[in-house]
Amino acid sequence: IVELSLRPTTLSQYIGQHKVKENLKIFIEAAKMRHEPLDHVLLYGPPGLGKTTLAAIIANEMGVQFRTTSGPSIERAGDLAAILSSLEPGDVLFIDEVHRLPRSVEEVLYPAMEDFFIDIVIGQGPSARSVRIDLPPFTLVGATTRAGLLTAPLRDRFGVLSRLEYYEPKDLCAIVERTAEIFHTSITKEAAMEIARRSRGTPRIANRLLKRIRDISQVKGEDKISLDMTSLALSMLQVDEVGLDHIDHKFLKGIIENFNGGPVGLDTIAATIGEEPQTIEDVYEPYLLQIGFIQRTPRGRIVTHKAFEHFGLKANE
Ligand code: ADE
Repeated sequence: IVELSLRPTTLSQYIGQHKVKENLKIFIEAAKMRHEPLDHVLLYGPPGLGKTTLAAIIANEMGVQFRTTSGPSIERAGDLAAILSSLEPGDVLFIDEVHRLPRSVEEVLYPAMEDFFIDIVIGQGPSARSVRIDLPPFTLVGATTRAGLLTAPLRDRFGVLSRLEYYEPKDLCAIVERTAEIFHTSITKEAAMEIARRSRGTPRIANRLLKRIRDISQVKGEDKISLDMTSLALSMLQVDEVGLDHIDHKFLKGIIENFNGGPVGLDTIAATIGEEPQTIEDVYEPYLLQIGFIQRTPRGRIVTHKAFEHFGLKANE
């Protein structure tokens, strides 16, 4: 299946995130030399940068099974107990959105991470008793959009903290070229670079745009994706010169037109444009902050001069 093989399976195939890769490579090698499981790893950073892929690579490089779940899907302590007790020694358990684990579940996780056991209460009322279950040593790989969303006790139990950063255009370009090759699609260097430049530093976006541009190019009867076709397709897809999409525009223009550029509170602007505050905060704002189009202040969000200029407007003083 193409979709699956799209994801790199080894650290050496994984493009970009040089610092994170370099560190993980050493920690994995050391753990393997000692015949120990890797210490627990927290991967944090904006969505679409490859946290799940990296977790799967860790399991593959360690030569162990990769088991995945997510914070919101573990509702009760018993659910977590079932998962943990089915692990084999050394396995990687990946918990996506680890900040969304219910508090009662999180508390069960502490001794599991620290000393590889869990205490669970069986029965109710006077006959209730606590049983201790020993677990095989395992590696927890947690993923979250922001490390600050985790409770301090959970964050403290991860031995390796890795922050994924937005990709540089040259790395995204290499990812686009790699994906095109997997799709048996030809693309010029300039076209791949243009997609890279307009993908908000995010491989998931670059690969999605590549697929749509390939569709458009194919229907127009071209056998190699060109820069012209890419520019045409990106305007059809409502991706602007710097990679901002329809929702980025709605957000920025919403603040400019209704709140005079801000400051405006997150919930207020979210309600105004009809988007979820959480999605704006986790998906849209991080990149706009990074490129200096917005600022977060105690009184709310502000659109910067740079963003006004992008729209050909002048900021009010
Ligand atoms: N596909 C998506 N992200 C990737 C990455 N970082 N390296 C290689 N291929 C990818």
